[in-house]
Amino acid sequence: MTSGIYQGPTSYGDPGFSRFVRSTFLSAAGYDEGDTDRPIIGVGHSVSDFTACHREMPALLDAVKRGVAQAGGLPLAFPTMSLGEVFLSPTSMMFRNLLALEVEELIRAQPMDGVVLLGGCDKTVPGQLMGAVTAGRPTLEVVAGPMIARSWRGERVGACTDCRRMWSNHRAGQLSEEDIVSASTVLAPTGGTCMVMGTASTMAILVEVLGLAVPGSATAPAPSGDRLRVGVASGRRIVSMFSEQLTPDRVLSRSSFLNSAIVLAAIGGSTNAVVHLLALARRANVDLTIHDVGTATARVPVIVDCRPSGAGFLDDLHNAGGVPAVLSELESKLDLSATTALGTSLGEYLENASGPITPQTVIRPLATPVAEAGLIVLAGSLAPDGAVLKASAASPDLLRHRGPAVVFDGVDDMQARLDEVDVTPDSVLVLRGCGPAAAGMPEAGAIPIPRRLAAKGVTDMLRVSDARMSGTAFGTVVLHVAPEGQYGPLGLVRDGDLVELDADSGQLDLLVDPEVLKERRHAQPNVELDTTRWRTLQAQIVGQASEGADIPFPRG
Ligand code: FES
Repeated sequence: MTSGIYQGPTSYGDPGFSRFVRSTFLSAAGYDEGDTDRPIIGVGHSVSDFTACHREMPALLDAVKRGVAQAGGLPLAFPTMSLGEVFLSPTSMMFRNLLALEVEELIRAQPMDGVVLLGGCDKTVPGQLMGAVTAGRPTLEVVAGPMIARSWRGERVGACTDCRRMWSNHRAGQLSEEDIVSASTVLAPTGGTCMVMGTASTMAILVEVLGLAVPGSATAPAPSGDRLRVGVASGRRIVSMFSEQLTPDRVLSRSSFLNSAIVLAAIGGSTNAVVHLLALARRANVDLTIHDVGTATARVPVIVDCRPSGAGFLDDLHNAGGVPAVLSELESKLDLSATTALGTSLGEYLENASGPITPQTVIRPLATPVAEAGLIVLAGSLAPDGAVLKASAASPDLLRHRGPAVVFDGVDDMQARLDEVDVTPDSVLVLRGCGPAAAGMPEAGAIPIPRRLAAKGVTDMLRVSDARMSGTAFGTVVLHVAPEGQYGPLGLVRDGDLVELDADSGQLDLLVDPEVLKERRHAQPNVELDTTRWRTLQAQIVGQASEGADIPFPRG
């Protein structure tokens, strides 16, 4: 049996007995044949008190199950790992691949004909989908949805772009301890994911563009009825997807990934999405390199006015028509043959989709964008395999810059010496020892401005690292340098070496004679003495950021 509740029997060496005990325990749970003759839909959720952004998820889970039942399926919920961004140490990225492993095995091992996955906080969505794409059953993601923004002292603020801005102002002495405590009560005022264009919002939107979530589902706020209706609609749709056998390999294509890269640039999305798209493409056996992403994003302006590249919030984007309205504006740049989660082509879908709901100011026409360039993929002698820069969140005067390096070996070294080092506004802050193998890619790339310079009003400097940066952060920050420090030229940089960024030509160079570099030894990351089995295993096998930082599947 390849479908239904009796597929994949538990191995007791007696298939009849396996079926008998399975029906016994289903009976104990109150099910009978009227339930178990239906398509079985697994509903993987990531409810956790440690993932505060998911606190509205129990109601969303009920909504998905209601939709599955209405369409004639039997919903069976199961928990997945939940990766709450701000409660995990050293970084949630350390566990994305572990979540992917877990979800793949849970989908393969349990009897389900299709799966709906409930995620939201940054790594939950790519981790769940990496597992589901590999498992190969019909799949839909339902995201938690963003928070709704509130105001502090008359100004709309939100997590976590304003958390960072306010903390920087506090470090510079412009906000008191009392101010910071007061602001912390309104920066994340409702359930839901960060309501700026951070990684959670970016991935929610890209998953919709990839065809792994129902159109129009990404932006509905977590506490809204719209969000619950997304859940019901997704529950209904997954039962049809089982009938149509619309598996991820029939949805995902090079077109859908290139469309996602274009949308990533147009929304001013998180640089983290580049790593996740590359990992998902590899899982889906789609040929996609970091330079393909760079080619797709080049010359795509930012048309969505959300923080950190702009001023608005995700609820503004939802009120303006959400992702379908953005796609309508971008139609001329997209491959309309890509498949949506409805099984139609993107072109067919957009024929019936409306453009932005007027009046609105958050979705701009291509001719009058928020910023000219969203995301740039760099290459050069300091990053032979690539690096990324969110140009829309950078300072225009630093996009062409040459300066002497001030080098830090790992986060601990940076934290210990940052406020003591000899540094000027022209210096280039270089951080290494934060790549996928060395440290699991913490979001440490937005190195704080040294206190002395911050106090003098310096708000941005060129920063270069093999780390990531939160999608909610801003500044002229080059990230994901590949190969990471312990394997590439980044590990050869010394204090005072000249580093040059030319964003227009996509170059990041170390201006040191190659013969001199040959004589230098690579800096090695500090090794954590109390490291765990998983961290040790991942460090040995994980790929570089330019390949998605996934763990390989050893074939043959
Ligand atoms: Fe969960 Fe921002 S902390 S989405």
